[in-house]
Amino acid sequence: MKIGDCVREILIEAGAAPERPTPGGLVPRIAREAERYLERVRFDPARYVRHALLLWEDWEVMVIGWEAGQITPIHDHRGVLGGMAVLSGAVLEERFTTPHLAPQLCDSKVRPEGDLCDTGPTVLHRLMPQSPRAVTLHVYRPPLRSMGIWDDGGLREIRGSEFEVGVEEFAGAGR
Ligand SMILES: [Fe+2]
Repeated sequence: MKIGDCVREILIEAGAAPERPTPGGLVPRIAREAERYLERVRFDPARYVRHALLLWEDWEVMVIGWEAGQITPIHDHRGVLGGMAVLSGAVLEERFTTPHLAPQLCDSKVRPEGDLCDTGPTVLHRLMPQSPRAVTLHVYRPPLRSMGIWDDGGLREIRGSEFEVGVEEFAGAGR
């Protein structure tokens, strides 16, 4: 079965349960499937590579391939609920508050392989790999189609969230 279809089945099954599924609640199951496809993850010395795994109804599932030094901007998720798993390597996550409308570091955590976490709708954070390469899985509800980009002065820009590797290319793979 293709990985995209496999993840869609997980979401359909979870959607039939009495409790409304959350990204964080589904990340462990989706991670177990996605980690079978690690050899398909691409890396680029120029930037981290976002792979679309599934964009379906009100869900988005994305895999990112990181090389050392590839740091994200400080960003928010515009109210979208998310969950993350580290599939290989390790990443540093820094979280920020905005006491004076400018980001102030409030938490810093190295997330090793196997780490699972929620990214709440109000999270303001940035990620950077702590290993020569790393692969992370991200699940969002609804899809994360834009992000707020911040710098020391505050919110700078609302930027569309894009993929370097399309859904057919990555998730069309069977096994
Ligand atoms: Fe993020």
